[in-house]
Amino acid sequence: MNQPHWHPASWQERTTLQQPHYPSTQALEEVLSQLTTLPPLVTSWEVESLKQELAAASRGEAFLLQGGDCAENFGDCRSPVIVNKLKILLQMSLILIHGLEKRVVRVGRIAGQYAKPRSADSETIAGVTLPSYRGDLVNAPEFTPEARRVDPERLLTGYSRAAITLNHIRALSDCGFADLHHPEYWDLDFFHHSPQAEEYRQVVRDLSHSLRFLKQLGVGDAPDLSRVQFYTSHEGLHLHYEEALTRKTPNRSGYYNLSTHLPWIGFRTAELEGGHIEYFRGINNPIGIKVGPGVSPQWIEAVIDRLNPENEPGKLLFIHRFGADRIEQHLPHLLRTVKQAGKEILWICDPMHGNTVTTANGYKTRHFNHILQELEQAFEIHRSEGTILGGVHFELTGDDVSECIGGARGMSEVDLERAYETQVDPRLNYEQALEMALAIIRKQG
Ligand code: PEP
Ligand code: CO
Repeated sequence: MNQPHWHPASWQERTTLQQPHYPSTQALEEVLSQLTTLPPLVTSWEVESLKQELAAASRGEAFLLQGGDCAENFGDCRSPVIVNKLKILLQMSLILIHGLEKRVVRVGRIAGQYAKPRSADSETIAGVTLPSYRGDLVNAPEFTPEARRVDPERLLTGYSRAAITLNHIRALSDCGFADLHHPEYWDLDFFHHSPQAEEYRQVVRDLSHSLRFLKQLGVGDAPDLSRVQFYTSHEGLHLHYEEALTRKTPNRSGYYNLSTHLPWIGFRTAELEGGHIEYFRGINNPIGIKVGPGVSPQWIEAVIDRLNPENEPGKLLFIHRFGADRIEQHLPHLLRTVKQAGKEILWICDPMHGNTVTTANGYKTRHFNHILQELEQAFEIHRSEGTILGGVHFELTGDDVSECIGGARGMSEVDLERAYETQVDPRLNYEQALEMALAIIRKQG
């Protein structure tokens, strides 16, 4: 079917789910017109180079590690929080490089992961009803009328916090901090007490050995060993914000979303005729789409035609998130549908979002073992279907939080109270994330 002409605002002609209701359209318009004039946060060059990397991942030559908070918050725009997140992603990437013998493409859920879909527009506690918290880009989490007020000024704050975060990441990635010759710079304070410390150190020793070997061969000073490339991603949920950062660039044709390298469409907003798919079909970025139980082969084929009509490699990521108990039932059909249609898809497993449970005392949590089981099954199913699992997508943090159950330290339900900090979904803490990476390579390496 021929689609009508696309422009950055054409999504506004569609029904668009999960958008906040702004009390004043004029106040919103004023903020958006400011945002439109502010510089982009990333460049089309970076976006295109990520697309090349993702194409390599879809061929099995590289592996995507995507991870970060479920929801970033403005208060966490602080050096220790950003640095710790970078450290854990760098450490995990070292483990994966070593075990999978592939280069690893690092993409944070960072520098813009500020808008969240919610199951209801409002929340009622003790007879008081207020708008739901929709992420720091929209309102604040505390249950007060002032905090929950939907405030367009937050779009500008979100843009600034994303810019500050990205600036810090760029500075760190470009200097000695990211030097592969000194992975000890990435050790976190509590690392030395961690049950995984020795296994990780062995990985580092092996890699250092390989680096020395390269040096003897005369290629040890290759510049890409002293800096790392680090990309950003977030759910492209708040379409007024995404539209305001959608730009044309002088040397390329078409539009780019320059608020992030890799925006994705969430599971709840992946309606074929809805505003999100309409917006995403017009941008040149690589794009992710979350895929879960209930998607039909017709939807799959239509979505691919809409989002990647040229069948460009590295352009479209299917991030599947079925849950450990359902992946076996659903994933094979999905893989076969895409394979039979001859379409280029980069397959990513998100083992987090299909495995969320609520404890008796009301904590939203996930079990380490369920996460690992879904991942292991994903590798297995791709292998037996002859497709390639090109990467993983985690909710994690570089801090010592207690949000997911299990792992080597045996985090239990009662332990969750110690440091349960997430405002939305539970994240792997630093040790659990490291352990997850080691578990992946133990099975796949
Ligand atoms: C998320 O990634 O935080 C999220 C809401 O996931 P999904 O769209 O897969 O439910
Ligand atoms: Co989440």
